[in-house]
Formats: sequence, C-alpha cells, structure tokens
Amino acid sequence: MSELVDFTRHGEIGVVTINNPPVNALSPGVPEGIVAAIEAAEADPEVRAIVVIGGGRTFIAGADIKEFGKITSGERPRLSLYAALNHIEDSKKPVVMAIHGTAFGGGLEVAMSGHYRVAAPTAQVGQPEVKLGIIPGAAGTQRLPRLAGVAKAVEMCAFGEPIDAKSALAAGIVDKIIEGDLLTGAAEFARGVAGNLALKTRERNEKLQDASGNTAIFALAREQARKTRRGQKAPLAAIDAVEAATRLNFSDGCDREAEIFRVCLFSTQSKALIHGFFGERAVSKIPDIPKDTKIYDIRRAAIIGAGTMGGGIAMNYANAGIPVIVKEAAQDALDRGLAIIRKNYENSVKKGRFSQDLMDQRMALITPQLTYSGFEQADIIVEAVFEGMALKKQIFGEMDKIAKPDCILASNTSTLSIDEIASATSRPQMVIGHHFFSPANVMRLLEIVRGAQTSKEVIATSMALAKKLNKVGVLAGNCRGFIGNRMIHCYGREAQFLVEEGAAPEAVDHAIYEFGLAMGPLAMGDLAGLDVGWRIRKEFKHLEKPGVRVPHVADELCELGRYGQKTGKGWYKYDENRKPSPDPEVTAVIEKVAKQYGIERRSISNEEIIERTIYALVNEGARILEEGIALRAVDIDIVYLNGYGFPAWRGGPMFYADTVGLDKVLAKIEEFEKRHGSDLWAPAPLLKKLAAAGKTFESWDKEKESAAGA
Ligand code: 3HC
Ligand code: NAI
Repeated sequence: MSELVDFTRHGEIGVVTINNPPVNALSPGVPEGIVAAIEAAEADPEVRAIVVIGGGRTFIAGADIKEFGKITSGERPRLSLYAALNHIEDSKKPVVMAIHGTAFGGGLEVAMSGHYRVAAPTAQVGQPEVKLGIIPGAAGTQRLPRLAGVAKAVEMCAFGEPIDAKSALAAGIVDKIIEGDLLTGAAEFARGVAGNLALKTRERNEKLQDASGNTAIFALAREQARKTRRGQKAPLAAIDAVEAATRLNFSDGCDREAEIFRVCLFSTQSKALIHGFFGERAVSKIPDIPKDTKIYDIRRAAIIGAGTMGGGIAMNYANAGIPVIVKEAAQDALDRGLAIIRKNYENSVKKGRFSQDLMDQRMALITPQLTYSGFEQADIIVEAVFEGMALKKQIFGEMDKIAKPDCILASNTSTLSIDEIASATSRPQMVIGHHFFSPANVMRLLEIVRGAQTSKEVIATSMALAKKLNKVGVLAGNCRGFIGNRMIHCYGREAQFLVEEGAAPEAVDHAIYEFGLAMGPLAMGDLAGLDVGWRIRKEFKHLEKPGVRVPHVADELCELGRYGQKTGKGWYKYDENRKPSPDPEVTAVIEKVAKQYGIERRSISNEEIIERTIYALVNEGARILEEGIALRAVDIDIVYLNGYGFPAWRGGPMFYADTVGLDKVLAKIEEFEKRHGSDLWAPAPLLKKLAAAGKTFESWDKEKESAAGA
C-alpha cells in the first residue's frame, strides 16, 4: 500500500487512512492511494464495509494547492480526480467517510463520493475554492446539490464559507454525528450499513429541482455575488456550474464544471488569490528567528488610551479571553471609550453574531481605570495615546517604571520611531511596535515593528500573539510609517495632486473603487479623519525638502474645520446618514490652491488616476523591500490586503505590478519622473533591476528564499 494511504482490517471493516500531513491534501499519490485501498478492501472477502478516515488533525483539506501552479505552467496536465471519485462511488461495498477537522474543497468532494458520511461534532465541511479564484473541480458543484439541494450548494460553492457538522447533518451532507472516538463510531456505523449499498450520490436527482424555484435561487445568488464579491469572477462561475447540475446529466455536468474550472484556474485572479493564501502563511516565517525561539506567556494585558484605537485593541484581547486593563487620562474619555466598546458588542449581539452571555463575559474581562494599578502584573502593555513623540516618550518612561522585567512594551504608533520611543526606557529589547489598523476590532492586519534592539523573543511572542488575537502579523522594520503608512503616504499624495491638477475628488475615488479597493483615498481620509494626517504633517514639517511639491488641499480643508466624517464634512459633505456628496466649498478650495501654486488644470483619465496612485505604492514598496523594511514582496501584499482594503483578487500592489509587467510599470514611472520630477518619482533601483532582468517581485522573493535555504 502507498505510504500516503494505509489500509488495515478491523474485523469485517476495512479502514482506509490518509496520511499526508499536515492537512492530508490530495497531493499526487493520495487519490490513487485511496482508490488502491478501496480496491484492496473490495478484494478482501472478510471486509463487508469500508471506512475512509484522515490520519492526524484532519480529514482532507482539499486538493494540493501547490499543484495548481504546476498545471498552469504546463508541468502537470490536469487534476485527475473525477475518475478516482467515480471509482470510489462504484465500490461494491459501502464506503463510509469519517470526517474530523475539515473536509474542504477536494476533501468534501472525496467525502461525497462515499455512500455515507459521518462526522465528529467539531468537523467542518465546505467548498472554499472561490477564495482561491477557482470553483470545485472534482464534481463538487454536481454532487453537492444532489446531497444538500440547490440553494445550499449554491451558497457553499459561490461564497465558500464552511458549515459545521450540525448544519451539514441538517443539510443532508452528513448522515450522523459521532460523539466520542470517530473511528470506533464510524466502524459501528459501517457495520450497520454493511450489505446496504446506498444510492450513489451522482444518481440522486430528487433534490435538483428546488421547490422555491431554481431560477430565483440562481438570480438571487448572482445578485449577492456581484454585491459582496465585487470584481471576482469565481463566485459567478461557481453559480454557473451548479446551474449546469440542474440542466445536464451528471456526466455532462462534470464536463461543464471541468471547463469552467480550467478557465478559472488559468485566470490572473486565481493566481492572485493563491499568492495571498500562501503569502498569509509565509509572513509568519522570519529568517533570523528560529521556530524554537522562547515565547512569553501573555495572560494579562494593559492598554493606555481608550480612544479610537485603544478601545478596539482592548476588544481584541477580551475576544481572545485575555483580561485587559484600560487606562485613560480623564474620566470622560474613559466613559466614552467604554461606551463605544459596549456599543460595538451590543451591535454584534443584535446581529446574532454572538450571545448576550458571551458579550457579558467579554465586557467582564475589560477593566477601565484612571491609574496604573495592576499594570505591574501585565505581561504586555500597549500604548495607544495621541500621536506625538514627547507624549509617547513620557508614557514609555512611566511604563518602564511600573512594568515587570519581562513585560512587553508595545506602541500602537502609526509613524513614529520605535527606537526613539524605546530610548525612553531602560529596556529597549522589550519595546516593539504593535500597529493595529482602524477599526482595530475588525481589521485583520497587525504590523509588528521591530526596533534596532527588540529581542527575538519579543518578536516571536508578538507573531504568536497576533495569531491568538486572530490577526495576520507582518513584521516591519523601523522607519517613518513602517510598511503600510509609508506607502500610503505616496498614494495619498498622488490622489491629492490629481485633484489639484483637475480630477474631481469623486472621480479619483470612483476610479480606485472600480479598480477594486473598498474605498477611494479621499473617502478613506474622511473616514479616518483628515486632522490625523494634518497633525502628522505638522510633526514632520521640519523634514520636508525645500522645493519639493507637497499637497495643500487637505490642510486647507482642516483649517476650515473640515476634518472628515466626524465633523460632517471633509472632501465631501455628509448627510445625517453619512451619505457623501460633492461640496462646492471643496471645489473652491481646490481651484484656489491650484491658482496659488500655479498648477495647470486639465482633464485626467481613470487610467492615469490608477497609474499615479497604484504605481506610487509600488515604487515605494520596492524601496521598502530593498531597504529590508519588509522581508518579502508578499509581506507588502499581505499588509495591503489586510490593512488597506486592496482587492484580494489583485493579489496586493506588488503582485499587481508583476501581472502588469515590471517593464511597463517602470516605463510609466519614468514618464511620471519626467513630468513631476525625480524627488517624487525617481524609480526605485530594485524595480529597475528586476525590470531589466525580466523578473518579478515574486521571483525575487523566491530567489531570496532559496538563497536563505541554501
Ligand atoms: N494544499 C496545500 N497545502 C495546504 C493546503 C492545501 N489544500 N491546505 C493547507 N496547506 C498547508 C499550508 O500552506 C501550511 O503550510 P506551511 O505550514 O508550510 O505554511 C500547512 O498546510 C498548514 O496550514 P495552515 O497553517 O493553514 O493550518 P490551519 O490549521 O490554520 O488551517 C486549514 C487548516 C483550515 C485546512 C487551512 O489550511 C485551509 O483553509 N486550507 C485550504 C483549504 C482549501 O482551500 N481547500 C480547497 C483547495 S482547492 C480544491 O480542493 C480544488 C478541488 O475542488 C479540486
Ligand atoms: P484618540 O485620540 O482616539 O485616542 C487617544 C486617547 O489617548 C485619548 O482618549 C486620550 O484621552 C488618551 N490619552 C492621552 N494621554 C493619555 C495618558 N497619559 N494616559 C492615558 N490615556 C491618555 O487617538 P487614536 O486614533 O486612538 O490614536 C492612538 C494611537 O494610535 C496614535 O499613536 C495613532 O497614531 C495610532 N493609530 C491610529 C489609527 C487611527 O486610524 N486612528 C490607526 C493606527 C494607529
């Protein structure tokens, strides 16, 4: 028997165990191994029924995603799962699929080829392929509607969210939930059905016509997909494939699915989403920090500042079950901060996301106060006060006095130097940046900023803590704005220049929204508060290089008290429902600024808006890479996908540049340099080097990885 799949006999039950750690992906050899084991069981006269089970932590997490690149590059012809699954389904002895952990994608497709399915109570099943820009590619769109009905199949295939064992039972995807040992329960179930070959899934057609009408189901799903998966092709493709199941026989339906699967697999969207999948896992690997680096236990946390960020950060700790003290400077600010936390939780309860009980438990973990009492027991203290170096240093001096020696001292600063902040303490090795993104209880990104003296243990603990807080931790070096904000500064600058040069604010925002970002740069400024940048610009005014163009409109708007949504007006004016509309006062400010600084106004295309803003990100990203502020190009992409609403299906700014072609990106940047000057647009040397060699940022990451491994 193959090493990947094992066959043993437990009395009259043949047990097929898949052993392809860590997640039993269907790598080459696994489907073949399952088929061979089923054949062995069929040939064994003692065996009356067969159980297929996953070894280790899970059933099967799906096809091996690493294989997809080999197919698109021509190294492998195609996935050949269809025949294997039909083979399992044709077994003359009943096959019981025993699911624990996850049966995702190809895993659920394998499970559906069995005659019966049993599951552990904690098991999850799903067809998450759309999250990789593809659709189920081994008859998932054909078998699932036969088991679960059209509506459920459309929901699972088009939106990709997994369902738990209980819901799978209710949907008809599993036949029984097994409490206790899964193999024992599955074997008992198998003995009960021995000699009773259930109808093959592919022959069960009774659920293919939904009582409420398939047409309505597909129309609604398409509408939802266009709205909630804006710009993505795979969700609509998955709906087409499920629809094929209702119109064609099984075999033709599978052919249709295979055609659609292939188109999706070869799409740039799929490559981008797969890049994001592996990127999210790659960022946790830090070359100079070994896996066995000591990690501090974080059992108690404390936060200074209960403003926009402090409150959200406190919620993250409470959500992870870690008790957290929140200290404020004044009672009214503390009350305000706690009221917002409570309101956020109440909204979740109202929306049915969790129970009142859970909310009460989480609120009970948050201790609001005005003193440092209890800080001496904290394993981590996070500072989230106003952005200003003097204040941060004062606070870190106070933290240093009160914290225990092995307490991590973290700052949520978005721009300031971690080293300078650390210099206010006697233990710079314990100081690190924990840069959360607003709203901190929602956004998944945590930029972890390494100071010159931050210890490896503190970095390793921060990376592990990010996971515990349900965040994606990305390590950044210490510079102004770190990875994300240093780049966004260039993007925001160009957005403002475009406005000064003649594009209406709504035209700039619309172009970026159409490109796929969650919102345009000017609307984002209004949401975050224009005064935040205004304050930062004042702090860094002394660093501005004389003679280099800077944008003026946002500062002028702030002078007029237009701070954004919080004052009801910024780049736009807002009605009582926060609906924005263009404001002639803003147009007047823009025209005044253009006149004052001699900026020629002209008509600007959407294409130029995208190139100026996105290539500004790319060029600064390339510098960040070269300086080692980001470890890999994919780290930058993960920052943008999780912190800035960059569309996942474009893979992040660096991957997007790869897909455009670095030579083309460079040519445009050189054109901008001629027009707008080298101070703003000199191409990053790394970009020039890669473009000249016909390489990509992705290939640069790979070269670096293999050099490190060599
Ligand atoms: N193929 C290849 N590698 C995979 C994989 C897969 N399907 N699923 C996970 N891995 C790898 C990860 O890259 C990671 O590798 P690393 O340790 O080298 O970084 C390792 O397995 C462990 O994965 P996680 O860190 O994600 O482990 P978790 O326990 O946090 O999560 C999981 C487990 C929920 C299964 C999660 O890995 C996951 O969601 N995997 C992807 C599932 C999926 O998308 N399946 C569909 C694949 S496409 C398909 O099946 C097409 C079919 O229709 C033909
Ligand atoms: P905020 O103004 O909403 O909150 C700051 C809070 O700190 C105020 O409630 C203030 O009363 C309190 N405070 C000031 N001095 C204090 C002291 N000595 N002790 C206790 N509390 C004190 O500011 P916000 O937006 O929460 O920003 C906090 C930090 O987070 C800043 O460094 C900012 O740059 C950073 N940040 C902000 C983001 C945002 O979008 N707002 C995003 C990421 C980081």
